[in-house]
Amino acid sequence: MITGRTVVAGVVGRPVAHSLSPVIHNAWLAAAGIDGVYVPFVPDARGFERLVNGFRGGAVRGVNVTVPFKEAALAVADRASEAARMAGAANVLIFEGDGRILADNTDGLGLLRAFAAQAPAWDVQLGPVTVLGAGGAAKGAVAALLLAGAPKVWVVNRTLEKAEALAGAMGPKAVALPWGHAAGALTASTAVINATSAGLGGTDGPDVPLETTQAKAVVMDMVYKPLMTPLLQQAQDLGRPIVDGLEMLIRQAEPSFEAFFGEYPPADVDVRALALEQLA
Ligand code: ATR
Repeated sequence: MITGRTVVAGVVGRPVAHSLSPVIHNAWLAAAGIDGVYVPFVPDARGFERLVNGFRGGAVRGVNVTVPFKEAALAVADRASEAARMAGAANVLIFEGDGRILADNTDGLGLLRAFAAQAPAWDVQLGPVTVLGAGGAAKGAVAALLLAGAPKVWVVNRTLEKAEALAGAMGPKAVALPWGHAAGALTASTAVINATSAGLGGTDGPDVPLETTQAKAVVMDMVYKPLMTPLLQQAQDLGRPIVDGLEMLIRQAEPSFEAFFGEYPPADVDVRALALEQLA
């Protein structure tokens, strides 16, 4: 029931119709009995700032931000967390009582919590990690891994210049490698993370020699449509532990929910099952 006290939050993206976030957040709201609602917002391509600046009036408590507005979200904010600044992007905006906007990035936390949930034996601090890709998703992953204490992160990208730019912005522990040199990085890594769009929507997965990874190396794919991507399938066939992109999506939503509604989401609702239903 919507009342005079209902707290409004939502997700801003373009497109946003297939976002799983409304399903996840509204299921948590219902289970927790919170007087709140989580709705989609779709500004036109140049309307992001206008929409978000309008929320400074207090109409909305906060929003998640998704493609293609995550960089714009950081730029429009008055303050930003270290995670958002280092990722160069925000997936959470909070509208503060005084009209200011606070930017945060919970994608990195989501990534690490997904590892903790699905590959609990893995520890970020134990060895190098390979990140495939050098776009916004890769930048967020590299930032999160380094903030969490990874000793080294290899950034492997098809376009080497983009990997070099990303690694250069992250300090000496991030090292760029051309795609053709992936094998050396894979052999030494405790985890491999696909942050490219390869594998999305039934396309071919990233073409890397996964068989060169160590037996305990964890393979993670940020792509979750399909849930079992070509890379994850290949990893599973090799007997490697795997972490899927849906787990990361759900785990980034948890701290987002807390920021919007003031309490942690309830544990007694299976949002993964709901999201899987939606994906099907
Ligand atoms: P996002 O913001 O989701 O990270 P992006 O900035 O468009 O999206 O970045 C897409 C990434 O996927 C890039 O690193 C891209 O490689 P290039 O920089 O060489 O373009 C990578 N990518 C896309 N398709 C790929 C494929 N088939 N094989 C390898 N990398 C691919």
